[in-house]
Amino acid sequence: MARWPKPPEGSWTEHYPELGTAPISYEDSISPEFFELEREAIFKRAWLNVGRVEQLPRRGSYFTKEIEVAKTSLILVRGADDTVRAFHNICRHRGNKLVWNDFPREEASGTCRQFTCKYHGWRYGLDGQLTFVQQEGEFFDLDKDTTGLVPVHCDVWSGFIFVNLAPEPEQTLTDFLGPMITNLEGYPFDKMTERWQYRSQVGANWKLFMDAFQEFYHAPVLHSNQTPDAFSAAAAQAGFEAPHYRIEGPHRLVSTSGIVAWELAPDMRKPMEDITRSGLFGPWDKPDLGVEKMPVGLNPAGCDPWGLDSFQLWPNFTILIWSGGWYLTYQYWPTSYNSHTFEGNLYFVPSRTPRERVAREMAAVTFKEYALQDGNTLEATQMMLESRAVTHFHLNDQEILCRHMHKVTADWIADYQAEIEKGTTR
Ligand code: FES
Ligand SMILES: [Fe+2]
Repeated sequence: MARWPKPPEGSWTEHYPELGTAPISYEDSISPEFFELEREAIFKRAWLNVGRVEQLPRRGSYFTKEIEVAKTSLILVRGADDTVRAFHNICRHRGNKLVWNDFPREEASGTCRQFTCKYHGWRYGLDGQLTFVQQEGEFFDLDKDTTGLVPVHCDVWSGFIFVNLAPEPEQTLTDFLGPMITNLEGYPFDKMTERWQYRSQVGANWKLFMDAFQEFYHAPVLHSNQTPDAFSAAAAQAGFEAPHYRIEGPHRLVSTSGIVAWELAPDMRKPMEDITRSGLFGPWDKPDLGVEKMPVGLNPAGCDPWGLDSFQLWPNFTILIWSGGWYLTYQYWPTSYNSHTFEGNLYFVPSRTPRERVAREMAAVTFKEYALQDGNTLEATQMMLESRAVTHFHLNDQEILCRHMHKVTADWIADYQAEIEKGTTR
């Protein structure tokens, strides 16, 4: 018998009275002025995930990360002391971008002993120290010891690399994440090193795509063509409601039940799913994760059968853990008030056989197909929101996380504006 935790009484939304139940405005997703504020109030103050430690496997490994919303590019590098550091990707001589390959706007990665500027050859150590200046004697009062790369606050949690662009972050990374997230410590993220990446430019505000992945109300309708008819009809009838929502500080969680394709009647599955033993929920054969007890933060409400937990980390990062023993991350990097770059990553325990490899590929392409459908609809939504023909929108109880997301956004902007007014901005 399925056990689905419900709120003690009333609706989910009513348990968070600060959210209210009124229709909400989407002006925060269509206003260029609001977007300019988000750059400062959110993206230059929150901890941002920029990748995983597996992307920096050796001393001297590095990768660059373009963060357009903060108008910068960063270098992430593992130093000779094994510490992961972040620097602004700018040469101290005349401001050239320090690390890039053929195209200055593209990200780069590799391994090196030092960074050499392509313009006049200044060199920097892995710790950011300026180590070499051509014709150094021709400069005036140049102190190499105080002319290193400009550091950015950087910290690692459970292998996830975070940066904070504030001069002094208001909270440590651990305090920022809070117990709902840090209680995931011990999940074998480090064993899931086979990564499948997907990146796409989406013509919609970054928050609209976050909204699309934090409610399942749309699933049986928008994705109906990808699920067998009988399954779609059943899901639509059941309302496809997730059994558990949780809000903690600026972060959110939704757990869903474990309806799995291979447990459905054969006529509800696609032939390709049977052949590859895989699909949207991932490979059917669960890998041995070698972990006796899962961390308390996973499936925190004890949903049974449990399907997945989607942790939405403020502001633009999602960790989605499937009961089948793999996980996904999403990142939404704003590029303007009505566009963003979406990055989806799938992480698996490395495949050992061709069959396992194919099962992972099936999961990856299925995920991509779903994401494409979501992305397409978002552009249509953005377009009409910008008409301002309607300014306030009704959200139901299942859309509680969308309501929260827009409230947190408004709160961070309001805090920032209050600090500016008082002249106490950090
Ligand atoms: S700008 Fe880098 S060495 Fe001149
Ligand atoms: Fe979707």
